[in-house]
Amino acid sequence: MPKSREIHLVARPQGMPSQDHFALVETTTPDAADGQVLVENLFMSVDPAMRPRLTSGQDLNVAMMGGALGKVVQSKHPDFAVGDLVSNRLGFREFFVSDGKGLTKLAADPDLSLTAHMHALGMTGFTAYGGLLHIGALKDGEQVFVSTAAGAVGSIAAQIAKIKGCYVVGSTGAADKAAWLKDDVGLDAVINYKETPIRQALEDATPKGIDVYFDNVGGDHLEAALRRMNTLGRVPVCGFISGYNSGHSAVSNLSNIIYSRVMLRGFVGTDFMHLYGDFQRDMSSWLKEGKVKYQETILDGIANAPSALIGLMEGRNSGKMLVRLAG
Ligand SMILES: NC(=O)c1ccc[n+]([C@@H]2O[C@H](COP(=O)([O-])OP(=O)(O)OC[C@H]3O[C@@H](n4cnc5c(N)ncnc54)[C@H](OP(=O)(O)O)[C@@H]3O)[C@@H](O)[C@H]2O)c1
Repeated sequence: MPKSREIHLVARPQGMPSQDHFALVETTTPDAADGQVLVENLFMSVDPAMRPRLTSGQDLNVAMMGGALGKVVQSKHPDFAVGDLVSNRLGFREFFVSDGKGLTKLAADPDLSLTAHMHALGMTGFTAYGGLLHIGALKDGEQVFVSTAAGAVGSIAAQIAKIKGCYVVGSTGAADKAAWLKDDVGLDAVINYKETPIRQALEDATPKGIDVYFDNVGGDHLEAALRRMNTLGRVPVCGFISGYNSGHSAVSNLSNIIYSRVMLRGFVGTDFMHLYGDFQRDMSSWLKEGKVKYQETILDGIANAPSALIGLMEGRNSGKMLVRLAG
């Protein structure tokens, strides 16, 4: 019976979460019984969507919900063998026992890093792919703006737009991320919204307007983009991170969508699962050919999970935020 540790939410934050809202709790996990597996989590995914759930949706005093990649270490289940890699959403914990429901076996590509399956080649990459190509109906050569362009979703969306021959502007809030986007990724223009107000910077960076705005931020970024949208532009609304701590993210110029016939559409990654095969084929080739690059910020040890989540809200991640538990 392995000892395990897990992260509990113990108080609901108002505004930015702090360490006091979380607790590291020691438990003992039972061995696998008949029909069960014992899984050791190797990496946990830290996602902005966890922040709204701290306000409502996440129960107090239980292991927090969250995505992870684990390895089967005991199996009394016919469908799983020791050593199988399994993705799961069973939370911020080191070990757990499962009857197999909610576990997806991962056939990791040996030519790619294991962690790429948790972002570029996983759901964040798929969110970018479907959000841009399916919801945003991107056409080759269009004018594109991506916010949080150095993040897990944004960096993939921005690079797919480049692959499609588009003029791509990305925004970020840090000089090192801006340099990566400009020098390594090769975006056409990069905005540091903490240095130059987003409205002015976007006006300067988009002389031909915007056909597709891939929105990860809402609020001031969406408002600035709505001023620049071309006729029949599209705004796939992926996230509203500017409002996750406050619970609101106001936009004063929504009426701009009328005369410019702009389409705003919110979506979640599971809306276009029929594209998952195409995505895996395209993304694994782009990664292997070096056409898509990624960054990761990996904190070590489950005790650092609250810092990882707070860090995401403070922009302390470059690319995908992960916590390494083992492996
Ligand atoms: N619809 C879906 O299915 C789906 C799936 C996954 C993610 N999402 C959404 O996509 C967005 C990005 O998620 P991700 O996992 O890729 O996270 P991420 O971009 O890797 O990390 C979050 C980043 O947001 C930026 N940020 C934080 N507060 C901000 C603020 N007030 N204004 C502007 N930027 C701020 C920071 O980057 P800077 O330092 O550059 O500011 C931070 O590094 C989030 O809104 C998330 O909720 C949606």
